[in-house]
Amino acid sequence: MPEKCLIRTEKLCKSFSTGGVQQHVIKNLDAEIYEGDFTVIMGSSGAGKTTLLYALSGMDKASMGKVFFGDRNITGYNSDQLAIFRRKHCGFVFQQVYLMESMSVMDNVLTAGLLAGGNKRALIKRAKELFKQVGIEPGLWRKFPNQLSGGEAQRVAIVRAVINSPDVVFADEPTGALNSSASEAVLNILTGVNKNGQSILMVTHDMRSARRGNRVIYFKDGTICGELDLGPYVSGDKERHEKLRNFLKEMGW
Ligand SMILES: Nc1ncnc2c1ncn2[C@@H]1O[C@H](COP(=O)(O)OP(=O)(O)O)[C@@H](O)[C@H]1O
Ligand SMILES: [Mg+2]
Repeated sequence: MPEKCLIRTEKLCKSFSTGGVQQHVIKNLDAEIYEGDFTVIMGSSGAGKTTLLYALSGMDKASMGKVFFGDRNITGYNSDQLAIFRRKHCGFVFQQVYLMESMSVMDNVLTAGLLAGGNKRALIKRAKELFKQVGIEPGLWRKFPNQLSGGEAQRVAIVRAVINSPDVVFADEPTGALNSSASEAVLNILTGVNKNGQSILMVTHDMRSARRGNRVIYFKDGTICGELDLGPYVSGDKERHEKLRNFLKEMGW
């Protein structure tokens, strides 16, 4: 069965102008991200991975070209339409955890659900289930973000990202600031979310994170210069790790 496109770009360009100098970060990119995939984007620092993630998710406007989400051309959306679209279909996880400091753990998650029009009682039930899945104990639900460890805060951020069952979770180096056990916990959640049928698009510079994906794309010089099909994730698969290592070597990583 041919894979179904989740996101497709047509001659996507993104440039920044700083001090009168134009920098072309994404150049005429034709790309396809497939539904149900755990897609990983890799590339050197400054290559434009974050810029790409923002352009694909409608967090930022393209300079030229188009981004299609299913058959919707989101390039034509104004900022209100984009905000509604993102709330409905996308979840976001960043390297820096953005939780509302003035709200409890539970309220951070519920607010995301209520803003998307969810029913409070149903949201509380789902939040509790998700907290359980990611190991956020009831004792933490009433705490505030500054009372959590980095790993706990990132797990709360992921619960917030998936509370509305988004079609796709965009993650930008979600384990970048975490130690290895917290990273594994975060990656296990993303893998679980993906097994539920939701798509993941994750930027990382870390091989342990990257091998979670079934497809790895390498971004360089404003475009995709290579991709690797890794198949579904199996824990402790040495061959998979080798395959990824060889691919990255080939890409000049
Ligand atoms: N808002 C912005 N204004 C100006 N330049 C930017 C902006 N965002 C990113 N850039 C530039 O685009 C390039 C790619 O950045 P980024 O997408 O953050 O790379 P990566 O995530 O791969 O490290 C960098 O040179 C960066 O300075
Ligand atoms: Mg980045």
